[in-house]
Amino acid sequence: MIPPYRPIAMQERIIQFLKESDGYISGEEISQRLKISRAAIWKHMQELRSQGYEIAAVPHLGYQLVMCPDKLLSYVIQHGLNTKTVGQNIVVLDTVTSTMDEAFRLGNDNCPDGTVVCAESQTKGRGRLGRAWTSPKGKGLYFSVVLRPKLPLAQLPQLTLMAAVALARAVEEVSGLKPSIKWPNDILIDRHKLAGILTELRAESDQVRFVVIGIGLNVNTLMHQLVPGATSLKAAADRSFDRAQVLQSVLHSLEKGYVKLLKGHFAQIMEEWKKRSATLNQRVRVTDSTGVIEGKAINLDEDGAILIERDNGVVVRKSAGDVLLLR
Ligand code: BTN
Repeated sequence: MIPPYRPIAMQERIIQFLKESDGYISGEEISQRLKISRAAIWKHMQELRSQGYEIAAVPHLGYQLVMCPDKLLSYVIQHGLNTKTVGQNIVVLDTVTSTMDEAFRLGNDNCPDGTVVCAESQTKGRGRLGRAWTSPKGKGLYFSVVLRPKLPLAQLPQLTLMAAVALARAVEEVSGLKPSIKWPNDILIDRHKLAGILTELRAESDQVRFVVIGIGLNVNTLMHQLVPGATSLKAAADRSFDRAQVLQSVLHSLEKGYVKLLKGHFAQIMEEWKKRSATLNQRVRVTDSTGVIEGKAINLDEDGAILIERDNGVVVRKSAGDVLLLR
C-alpha cells in the first residue's frame, strides 16, 4: 500500500524553496536551510534543469527559478490542497494504459479513501459505452479517484451526478466559463464536450468495496488534438491553464460534494445538477442497448435516471444510454 504522505525529496524541497523566495537566493542560504553541501545543490540544480526547470544562476547573487516545466508533480498538487480526504494520497504517473486500471490496482491494495491517480498520458483511456478517451501527453487532466463511500449500491449513481456538479463548479471557478451538464455526466461548453466522467466499482455480494471516478478534462488540448464535437479550456477561454491548479480546484470541489452526499444532502446536489443541465427541457434522442427513442427530457428521478416524454405522451425512464441534443 502507498503511504498517505510520501517524504518530499530534496529536489522537490529545492523547487519549493525557490518558488517561495522573492528574487535570487544564495547557495549559502539554501545550503544552511536544507542542510546540504553547495556541491550537492549544484548537482541538484543540474538535474532539475535536465527535467525542464529553467533556473538562473548568477555569481554572488545565487539562484532564481525562471520557469517550471508544465508537468504534474504530486507535491505541487498537494501543496495548498485544502482537502481532508480527496487527493491526500496522490500518485502521479507518466504514461499508463488507463488511470482506471491503476486506481483499481490501488483500490484492491486497500489504498485510503480519496486516493487520486493521475497520468500525463494514457494509451487506452476509456470512456462510457466502450468509447476511447484521447489523452495527448501533458495537455489534459486524466485522473481517477478511489472512493470508499458507505452507501448502498442503489445510491451509487448519485456519486456520478455529484462528480458532474463538482467538476462543473471547478471549471467555472478556474476559468469563469459557464459549463453545463449533459446527462448523465458530460461537461459541455457551448454544446461542445469539455470533460467526461466514468464511474466503475468493485462490489462483492451487494457490498461496495470501492468506487473509482475517472475524469478526463481537456485543459490545454489543441484544436487538432480534439475529437469532433469536443473543446478544451484553452480553446474556449483562449488562454492556457496551469493544470495543477485546475486539478486542485476539481479535487477540492469533489471533496465538498462527497461530504455533502455522505451527509445525506443529495437533494441539494440534484437541484444544482438541474440548474446546470443542458438536457432538461430539450428535445433529445437517447440510444441504449434496447434501441433509440426521441422525446423531451422532462426530469431526473431520485436515482439519477432521466425521464423522456415521447411525442405520444408516454414517459420513459432511462438509467443509462447516450443522449443526443436535437435542438
Ligand atoms: C466519458 O465521457 O465517456 C468518460 C470519459 C472518462 C475519461 C477518464 S480519463 C481518466 C480516466 N481514465 C480512463 O481511462 N477514463 C477516465
